[in-house]
Amino acid sequence: MKVLIISTSLNKDSKSRILAKYVKSRLDCDIEFIDLFHFDLPMCDAGKCYEFTNVIELKKQIENADGVIFALPIYNYNINSSAKNVIELAGKSLSEKLIGILCSAGGSSSYMAPLSFVNSLMLDFRCIILPRFVYSTYNDISGSEIINDQIIERLELFCTEFNYLCNKLN
Ligand SMILES: Cc1cc2nc3c(=O)[nH]c(=O)nc-3n(C[C@H](O)[C@H](O)[C@H](O)COP(=O)(O)O)c2cc1C
Repeated sequence: MKVLIISTSLNKDSKSRILAKYVKSRLDCDIEFIDLFHFDLPMCDAGKCYEFTNVIELKKQIENADGVIFALPIYNYNINSSAKNVIELAGKSLSEKLIGILCSAGGSSSYMAPLSFVNSLMLDFRCIILPRFVYSTYNDISGSEIINDQIIERLELFCTEFNYLCNKLN
């Protein structure tokens, strides 16, 4: 089983990247990790953007994966724009794949923020969404450490269930 993790935060001190790294350390399979902080992508212009080397590489990595996990910052009650840009650049490559969602937000009120992202993946690309998100808030992570045991518990469950479903589907 091959899994691609895409960390979409452009913040050097990203908390969603910490969730992504935790999952990377706990999933027992072949894992690729793309961190958009180090992996420049053009904004989608529906034209020339598709010729960029990193866009071609992104599509290749997605196509080679059995499942894809997104680590998402929540901005303005939604996913951040670089995550949406990934879908605009390479959404079709996600077709029929298992998708997992890890989120980092400031507070708990935006817990439904990833749903429009998820809907578009289901409706446009027939993705299967793992029905267990991890949603962390500001107080759950300190420095590079996850300090809330409930978040660690959810991350562990997330890994077990992602692994299970990905194996069943492939
Ligand atoms: C422009 C901006 C908008 C934000 N909007 C929200 C929001 O709507 N809801 C929320 O809970 N947190 C919001 N936050 C807080 C971020 O979700 C929080 O800082 C989170 O850790 C970002 O993920 P990251 O650390 O991986 O970059 C916002 C932060 C920024 C910079």
